Amino acid sequence: MKKPPEIFNIIKNRRNTKIFEDKAINNIQIETLLESAIWAPNHRNTEPWRFYVVGKNSPARNKISEGMIALQEQNLEKKLSQDQENKIYNQIDSSPLLIFVYSLIGINDEITEENYGAVCCAIQNIQLTATGMGLGVGWSTGKICKISNLNKIFGITEQLKIAGVLSVGYPKSNSIKTRKNFKSLTTWL
Ligand SMILES: Cc1cc2nc3c(=O)[nH]c(=O)nc-3n(C[C@H](O)[C@H](O)[C@H](O)COP(=O)(O)O)c2cc1C
Repeated sequence: MKKPPEIFNIIKNRRNTKIFEDKAINNIQIETLLESAIWAPNHRNTEPWRFYVVGKNSPARNKISEGMIALQEQNLEKKLSQDQENKIYNQIDSSPLLIFVYSLIGINDEITEENYGAVCCAIQNIQLTATGMGLGVGWSTGKICKISNLNKIFGITEQLKIAGVLSVGYPKSNSIKTRKNFKSLTTWL
């Protein structure tokens, strides 16, 4: 059998990274990831991806923490203690580079869905390029995406929906993942 292409190993070695080394990545690395993102397929050439890069020392981190605190207080219907607030500030401060990825809302549901599909492809490009560069990416659609004033923090004026927040850095450890054999999920006709 012909040897599989290098991309095949990168695809299989990519893991959703959650634990990172305390080591910054540089702007050239970040730009390489973003450049790979924009070569994703996109129907009608809508180029629907939008990226908001929050660096390690970005002043946006404080605002994101404040948004997280407000979200938690709303969910719990009570004020957080100073300790709980500090924990959130520390958590956001200590997270690696964050890339908030958004997808353009289209003039109808079909285009909005196509755009979201394209943005997910762009995120996968980032993840695969990062893996090839020895970096790791964690894709989250968790609480951080649900902060109510993100649009204001980032100055978003377009109609966008969030596709996820990517934590990007040097992986400290990755969990082992398995998959079902594709044969059990494939029908040949
Ligand atoms: C749309 C999407 C949203 C995700 N959101 C989260 C998330 O909020 N938190 C998380 O820990 N992982 C999230 N992940 C990562 C998946 O949990 C991860 O891909 C899955 O466990 C398989 O692991 P692997 O990517 O290392 O193969 C998300 C993945 C996708 C595609």
